[in-house]
Amino acid sequence: VAPVDHPEPVNVRPVRAGEWRDLRALRLRALETDPGAFGSTFAKAAAYPDSEWIERAEAGDAGEQTRTFVAVTDQGWQGMVIAALLDDGDAGLFGMWVEPRGRRAGIAAALVDAVVAWARERRAAGVSLSVAEDNMAAAALFGSKGFAFTGERRPLPSRPEVGTLEMRRPVGGSEEPTRPRIENG
Ligand SMILES: CC(C)(COP(=O)(O)OP(=O)(O)OC[C@H]1O[C@@H](n2cnc3c(N)ncnc32)[C@H](O)[C@@H]1OP(=O)(O)O)[C@@H](O)C(=O)NCCC(=O)NCCS
Repeated sequence: VAPVDHPEPVNVRPVRAGEWRDLRALRLRALETDPGAFGSTFAKAAAYPDSEWIERAEAGDAGEQTRTFVAVTDQGWQGMVIAALLDDGDAGLFGMWVEPRGRRAGIAAALVDAVVAWARERRAAGVSLSVAEDNMAAAALFGSKGFAFTGERRPLPSRPEVGTLEMRRPVGGSEEPTRPRIENG
């Protein structure tokens, strides 16, 4: 990828503690635009007090147990994702969302890369996530980034009649070599 050639370069960076209003706006827009993709609902998140968003932005900025990344272009905030350390030694990936007009430009792929890099830095064994079983775009996205289905299926809290499928990829230290491999023979 050559970001300088892209008409709209995307900057993926951690949310800052003071940006809780922007974070709330983006997350509510995600829940409103794609209600079928998430475990939570717009109604539930819209009822949170400001203190909830302040805490989320602070924790997402601190980056110890959790990290929230935002994707920013000239058009403003175009996407987000949340990473959090889980009890089983993996990092979980949650709340992945890209503004509809910014889709198919590699923004989600860049957000996944940021989560994987953070998970590696935090010494997680892998990254795991759940995809609604009717969410083909998300399954394709994560499949293209090295995630595979684990076989675990659970109900989606916001739509219990729909299942979610778990996907996971290991986090190795050397999966994305910066130099070409030297082939023998
Ligand atoms: C899923 C989603 C995050 C993808 O965001 P995006 O920025 O458009 O994805 P990218 O441009 O980085 O796509 C990377 C790759 O993923 C796959 N992909 C992404 N969207 C796809 C789609 N609609 N159909 C098929 N493949 C898709 C492709 O392989 C794509 O590479 P390509 O464009 O070179 O073919 C976005 O559609 C979205 O926000 N959907 C609603 C919320 C959601 O479903 N979140 C995930 C919850 S688990």
